[in-house]
Amino acid sequence: MNDDLQKRIQAALANPQNLGELAGADAVGTVGNADCGEMLRLWVKFKEQNGKRVIDRATFQSFGCETAIAVASLATELIRGKTAEEALALKTEELAGELGPLPPMKIHCAQLVEGALRSALEPAAVAKPAPAPIAPTGAPTLLDSFSQPKQGVKLTFLDDPKN
Ligand code: FES
Repeated sequence: MNDDLQKRIQAALANPQNLGELAGADAVGTVGNADCGEMLRLWVKFKEQNGKRVIDRATFQSFGCETAIAVASLATELIRGKTAEEALALKTEELAGELGPLPPMKIHCAQLVEGALRSALEPAAVAKPAPAPIAPTGAPTLLDSFSQPKQGVKLTFLDDPKN
């Protein structure tokens, strides 16, 4: 990874946006990558604005891949104010925003964020209610929620483009 990209990732990580579970979310998407073991969950809440249902807020949790966190931080800001259709129309490289082009070995990190967004926003997911809040008596970590799967949460493993 080049130094410039590393600096942009570190800048995003220094002040990550929208980290953590979102209470009262309207949709939740969870994806995993079997090769590197990373998982990412994205929560989305909508609001009515000018007669349209737009994304009010989106948050995420991940197991710790720096690139995935940086992309998720930027992407959750980028999709605010967009309809689900507009957010779904964004390409992987657009979600990565100011990080710029990612090296081939890191593209799957951004695709993980895109996959979580699709999992949350595709019509069937938007229509179903969000799962109950995770671990009401403990720290609501992603690991907790994967250890105790909740009804209504779908975990999707992304296809590996190498296969
Ligand atoms: Fe796999 Fe980043 S290394 S998601």
